[in-house]
Amino acid sequence: MRVLKEENSPDIKSYLMEKKAIVDKALYDYFPESADIEPDIIKAMQYSLFAGGKRLRPILCMAGAAAVGGGESDVIPIACALELIHTYSLIHDDLPSMDNDDLRRGKPSSHKVFGEAVAILAGDGLLTEAFSIMTVPGITERILPESLIQVINLIADAAGFRGMVGGQVIDVQSEGKPVDISIVEVMHKRKTGALITASVLSGAIIGGGDKSRIEAIAEYGNKVGLLFQISDDILDIEGDSRVMGKKAGADREKKKNTYPALLGLKKSKQIRTKLLDEAIESLQNFDEKAWPLRRIARYIIERKK
Ligand code: IPE
Ligand code: IPE
Ligand code: MG
Ligand code: MG
Ligand code: MG
Repeated sequence: MRVLKEENSPDIKSYLMEKKAIVDKALYDYFPESADIEPDIIKAMQYSLFAGGKRLRPILCMAGAAAVGGGESDVIPIACALELIHTYSLIHDDLPSMDNDDLRRGKPSSHKVFGEAVAILAGDGLLTEAFSIMTVPGITERILPESLIQVINLIADAAGFRGMVGGQVIDVQSEGKPVDISIVEVMHKRKTGALITASVLSGAIIGGGDKSRIEAIAEYGNKVGLLFQISDDILDIEGDSRVMGKKAGADREKKKNTYPALLGLKKSKQIRTKLLDEAIESLQNFDEKAWPLRRIARYIIERKK
């Protein structure tokens, strides 16, 4: 089996740029722009969706499909749905009743521009539209019906109370309260890890991965999902607001329970490195088609935003 050595793999930055452009184009194509719809809600949804964003979840979905030998273009509607759900979660995460953040993706947060009510509704609209995109006749016809249902169920569970919503509840309710690191781990896995795992896993399912590949990809998703949120916690301390497009230092201000708050930066970075090794290890039986997944795991640590 040919496994490309990481240092010989193509440039991850160009890969991410190329895939982001594909996702952005698909989002423009799918997104409703109908004259008979309330214009404010469309404006608010588009404002947050097209403000920027790395498009990491859609890219993980595409890379998951490619890793099992599937066609990347088949997963694009699902990839876009994942980005709509993620964008909704950011709008709600920034609300005054949640993290009360005024800057997102380099622009004033949705509620600062459109007011709280429309921001809440824009989030609701994006979440609902995700499920419309995944089920509207015509655009998912290249996906096997049983795979499509499995993936929609997986994404619903990851976004809902078993996943992201549940994790966000722990996050806001534990603010300022001392909790054990095991609670923070569960919180991170649910608020952030669940949707990241669902992203890479849905790609692998649609791509036709067999049981052992799907299990390995799930393992990769679990490691990378937690790794992603630990990196986000670290960036809140070490990152630059202008580069990140969101306010640094916000976690400490709000007394959030983060990895560095509980364990310190050094230990948090050690855990992150271990998770990276484990994520790459979980792909040991994959050939060079999994190179983007291997490199994305490392990029998550190296990223500045
Ligand atoms: C930020 O996600 C929210 C977290 C889950 C930590 P991203 O860092 O992926 O944000 P965008 O999509 O690039 O703006
Ligand atoms: C957000 O976590 C997780 C979500 C589900 C949106 P954070 O609250 O740490 O995300 P940022 O730092 O505001 O992007
Ligand atoms: Mg939050
Ligand atoms: Mg936040
Ligand atoms: Mg954060």
